[in-house]
Amino acid sequence: MSQRVALVTGGARNIGRAVAERLGADGWEVTVFDQEPAGAEVAERLGGHFVQGDVADPATVERAVRETVERFGGLDGLVCNAALADPSMGPLPEVAFDDWRRQLAVNLDGPFLCAKYACTALAERRGSIVNLTSTRAFMSEANTFAYSASKGALTALTHSLAISLGPEVRVNAIAPGWIHGGDPAELSDADHAQHPVGRVGVPEDIAGAVAYLLDAPFVTGATLVVDGGMTRKMIYEE
Ligand SMILES: NC(=O)c1ccc[n+]([C@@H]2O[C@H](COP(=O)([O-])OP(=O)(O)OC[C@H]3O[C@@H](n4cnc5c(N)ncnc54)[C@H](O)[C@@H]3O)[C@@H](O)[C@H]2O)c1
Repeated sequence: MSQRVALVTGGARNIGRAVAERLGADGWEVTVFDQEPAGAEVAERLGGHFVQGDVADPATVERAVRETVERFGGLDGLVCNAALADPSMGPLPEVAFDDWRRQLAVNLDGPFLCAKYACTALAERRGSIVNLTSTRAFMSEANTFAYSASKGALTALTHSLAISLGPEVRVNAIAPGWIHGGDPAELSDADHAQHPVGRVGVPEDIAGAVAYLLDAPFVTGATLVVDGGMTRKMIYEE
């Protein structure tokens, strides 16, 4: 089998970088697509390709897919990870409509555009898509309107795509819980202990789930919750 090819959005740092590095280590050719120039270093280390730009811009998304197919000969995996990932917007009366629209554009239009421009190439190689949602698609802290709405909509878009693009293309989502990519010293014992698995997540936990879903031939339309058990924990104050 020829080497498999993945396009990872938001691969410059944190979860996306861990996904790109995991796929590179597993032998995939990788395109890193990110608005931040730091994505070039990640791609270079992997011998991959870098596209700098905005996932909410149709022409840039079309170019990212085209350059990936031109350079590596096809496309087997699309990982839609890029997002405006800070959920908090402040009190509702003060939310700027433009901020609401921009977060939906990046977090929802982005994966839609990536699927639209990649689906033909993915179908040719019986590939698959993994969308990064969030447990915030199912539960909320206050003042997280656009983030929660975008991830809920992306959950629905995932099963809509799975039904529309199958059997050639499988489409799944991962809903991460709390994933900490920074200095572990920033976390307290209580941060870890509240999780049923006993710790906060790390980007490699999500990278492992992406690798699984890209290789799971009987799984499509699913959302895999990777949250250390937090959304299965009933919390009522005493
Ligand atoms: N970290 C968590 O706890 C957590 C929890 C649940 C879900 N998630 C989801 O996982 C994914 C990654 O999260 P993260 O914590 O690594 O986020 P992050 O903010 O650390 O990294 C996001 C990456 O996406 C890129 N990006 C942002 N907007 C872009 C755009 N318009 N075009 C191109 N690239 C863009 C950024 O430059 C960055 O490299 C996101 O979809 C996020 O919603 C994260």
